Amino acid sequence: MSRLSVKGVTTGYDKVDVLHDVTIDVEPGEITCILGANGAGKTTLIRAILGLTPPRQGEIWWDGRNLAGEKTHRIIGSGIACIPEGRKVFPRMTVAENLALGAFLESDSGRIRSRLERVYEIFPRLKERAAQLTGTMSGGEQAMVSIGRGLMAEPKLLVIDEPSLGLSPLYVKENFQVIKQINALGITVLLVEQNARQTLAISHHGYVLSQGRVVAQGTAQALSENDEVRSAYFG
Ligand SMILES: Nc1ncnc2c1ncn2[C@@H]1O[C@H](COP(=O)(O)OP(=O)(O)OP(=O)(O)O)[C@@H](O)[C@H]1O
Ligand SMILES: [Mg+2]
Repeated sequence: MSRLSVKGVTTGYDKVDVLHDVTIDVEPGEITCILGANGAGKTTLIRAILGLTPPRQGEIWWDGRNLAGEKTHRIIGSGIACIPEGRKVFPRMTVAENLALGAFLESDSGRIRSRLERVYEIFPRLKERAAQLTGTMSGGEQAMVSIGRGLMAEPKLLVIDEPSLGLSPLYVKENFQVIKQINALGITVLLVEQNARQTLAISHHGYVLSQGRVVAQGTAQALSENDEVRSAYFG
């Protein structure tokens, strides 16, 4: 299975570095989480992986390949799907149309249909609401649409940027259960979150990012028992 390795990456915007010498490994088959407060550099790390904010120093390896100089669509085409911060569903399109967008690199309609069926098995509610305008769905349902759209790419690695942001506690819980379920299907997950407690509960390994640096790392179990992590992120 494919591994993602971020090795000593420093990058940022304009003249300012936001990430400093960041090294993380995402083990195939696992859920790896990146925890950190607002502005820690979590989204920038995802942008670096996707080639949107490429490394200024260091390297990113995926599936045995150095991603240096790779275009974003090539990186996505190699099996990395991203569910962006704020979900970014298209409100005036139906649920089915939003989902179909996730399969934009696939042209075989039979294969697209079978992916859709698989997404509907995971989210029966989306099947019931297939023809509904996504903007009229609840926040939790829109979160399902965004995750479903990511799955439509049939990724090896699903990168999810703060899925629980703006959701009510009930939906947050449901969302994390869905991510666990997706991982159990064999999809590797890189989960970026501020909600440390529930994230660590479903993760295998994790990293804590603070001001663009990795300040703690280990198994999810060890991180959830780490006093500094607890006082900084468990409220
Ligand atoms: N497009 C950009 N141009 C300039 N600076 C940026 C840009 N995006 C992010 N930054 C800066 O980089 C730093 C890290 O931001 P980033 O979005 O990676 O943090 P984050 O951990 O994802 O935060 P949040 O939890 O609020 O989403 C911040 O200081 C931010 O202001
Ligand atoms: Mg962010």
